[in-house]
Amino acid sequence: MNDLLYVNGGNPLEGTITVRGAKNFVSKAMVASLLGESPSVLRNVPQIRDVAVVTGLLELHGVTVKADAEAGVLKLDPSNVESAHVADIDAHAGSSRIPILFCGPLLHRLGEAFIPDLGGCRIGDRPINYHLDILRQFGAVVDKRANGIHLRAPRRLQGTKIALPYPSVGATEQLLLTAVRAEGITELAGAAIEPEIMDLIAVLQKMGAIISVDTDRVIRIEGVDRLDGYSHTALGDRIETASWASAALATGGDVTIKGATQPEMMTFLNTFRKVGGRFDVQEDGIRFWHPGGDLRSIVLETDVHPGFMTDWQQPLVVALTQATGLSIVHETVYENRFGFTDALRQMGATIQVYKECLGGRDCRFGQRNFHHSAVVSGPTPLAAADIEVPDLRGGFSHLIAALTAKGTSTVRGISLIDRGYEAFQDKLVALGADVSRD
Ligand code: EPU
Repeated sequence: MNDLLYVNGGNPLEGTITVRGAKNFVSKAMVASLLGESPSVLRNVPQIRDVAVVTGLLELHGVTVKADAEAGVLKLDPSNVESAHVADIDAHAGSSRIPILFCGPLLHRLGEAFIPDLGGCRIGDRPINYHLDILRQFGAVVDKRANGIHLRAPRRLQGTKIALPYPSVGATEQLLLTAVRAEGITELAGAAIEPEIMDLIAVLQKMGAIISVDTDRVIRIEGVDRLDGYSHTALGDRIETASWASAALATGGDVTIKGATQPEMMTFLNTFRKVGGRFDVQEDGIRFWHPGGDLRSIVLETDVHPGFMTDWQQPLVVALTQATGLSIVHETVYENRFGFTDALRQMGATIQVYKECLGGRDCRFGQRNFHHSAVVSGPTPLAAADIEVPDLRGGFSHLIAALTAKGTSTVRGISLIDRGYEAFQDKLVALGADVSRD
């Protein structure tokens, strides 16, 4: 199959779709199953490539994974966990960054772990120094070799006190997945507190862990000797929800998203309202629509939770090209998340990117050479173009731009979007989009 999609845009998206469990929670909950002495059951699991990648990695390590993909249920049995071959791990890790989170659980179960060169979206340098520092502090020996990183636990990992220089989501998850079975108490200051992390804490608590979330980003974990399996329903994907909501706004449409929930979306909902979009929180989802008339420009800064998510930025920027006036967007989580705007400019958008911190406080990228602020001037009609998907969220933004533009666009590298958007082509069709593969 060709890895491209033809999008004949210019029509509003209208209708109802369903969003299932959050990609950035489900993959971590799957890894957590490694820590249990008995099987786990995870529900509301979407059919996305990241789930397939983690399934492959778990199977390589001896976990039996039974999936009812349609029902969205995974049964994970870790009773026969074993070391995997380095070459196999390399081949399965693909474009994912999840392998790094296998370290803590594998060090507990096997005394060793291996991480290949990591993939993930090209949205910045994406180092793993926090992860390795954390593992070292627990007592792991880290050995960097040409093919990847080998880790050993010469004895049981020991609880420790750690302060993160930045509230990294992955590093906080690394710490949680390691501390729950370490000996003694671990205290993390400067923790990330994203809803997906809170759901991971809920899973670990179900397994037998003792974790308290204190004020001011402090998390305290009392290590235990044994964890069991869990039974859990994943929280909904708030990034996918915001992506479809932004598509509704940019195309002047009206989309109801079943499975979307208000608490995790509050910051997005405030911004959506400020831009001029309307929403209605319903019993089983949220309806998002463009009420007609002009959209308003805004000043926006991305941040860690409870701020405006970096992953919401890219889809919303497409809608901002249709707002009246100058919008200022300051990206403070990743240093290189405006690459996707090249294609928008090619389609007629007026967007300039800057190295300065615009519109808000100075961030850690300010005095460096990163184009991490953008000024969007609108409204500008978008014209169809031939464009290439740069990364997962940027790719979905390209789709939104193509749906907004009059005429037929060719969007290439579309399979990248399968990493995190379940059945997106079916959903596009359900919303009345005119899309085809050939
Ligand atoms: N960072 C370091 N050193 C580290 C780890 C992170 O400097 O060892 C920096 C990063 O370079 C970045 C910042 O800290 O500038 C934040 O990174 P974080 O660790 O929070 O991100 P992550 O865990 O790698 C997850 C999601 C991302 C999402 C971010 C922020 C997964 C698999 N990925 O990444 O999701 O943008 O948190 O919420 O959970 C996506 O879904 O498209 C995606 C990129």
